[in-house]
Amino acid sequence: MAPCLRLVLLLVLLGPSSSACRFRIPPHEQVARVARFVAHRCDWTSMATVSTHSPVVGQPFSNVFSVSDGPPGTSSGVPYLYLTRMEVSVQDLQVNPQASMSMSLAQTDYCRQHGFDPQSPLCAHIILSGSVLEVNGTEAEFAKKALFSRHPEMIDWPKDHSWFFAKFNITQVWVLDYFGGVKTVSPEEYFQASPHRKSA
Ligand SMILES: *[C@@H]1O[C@H](CO)[C@@H](O)[C@H](O)[C@H]1NC(C)=O
Ligand SMILES: *[C@@H]1O[C@H](CO)[C@@H](O)[C@H](O)[C@H]1NC(C)=O
Repeated sequence: MAPCLRLVLLLVLLGPSSSACRFRIPPHEQVARVARFVAHRCDWTSMATVSTHSPVVGQPFSNVFSVSDGPPGTSSGVPYLYLTRMEVSVQDLQVNPQASMSMSLAQTDYCRQHGFDPQSPLCAHIILSGSVLEVNGTEAEFAKKALFSRHPEMIDWPKDHSWFFAKFNITQVWVLDYFGGVKTVSPEEYFQASPHRKSA
């Protein structure tokens, strides 16, 4: 039996809340759900800021960040980040918090197994527009759980770097999950959607 099918059967037995099957991508026409699925599956993102660094001041600057929208199976839809002001892109964000993130199922086995090139829309990917905001209080507690559960190495990152938790505050979601061009999803539709099947 395929591992995926076995997990689905397990889901039927255990109930609907677990997200066991890794590659059960929602149908492509359920665009907001696909966006939530991609955001939850991805462990890292490429994030572009407006550079403040010579010789590219004012130009887009794309850089890699670890991300998590929640511990596995607990998707909030909000990409959380663990940042330090010593970091080159974070210095850009202090001047202009606006940024853009992209995440792709190319970082999972899904696209390779289906033979989808990363640039193919069938290799579902999303682009988020918005800004990066520091979080604290209970939201920072959730961010910590979300990030440290999926990036355990973070626990040991140098204490003297003044790490803080932040979120990507989404203002627009762009989805490439099928032919016919990019589709847009509002933040409201995005946060209402469920990345996983409601019942198995
Ligand atoms: C976080 O705390 C700072 C003060 O330490 C406060 O100014 C800011 O509004 C807080 N942010 C949130 C999202 O609660
Ligand atoms: C955060 O995003 C919402 C849309 O989801 C937007 O209305 C709001 O202005 C944004 N906040 C900031 C501080 O950018």
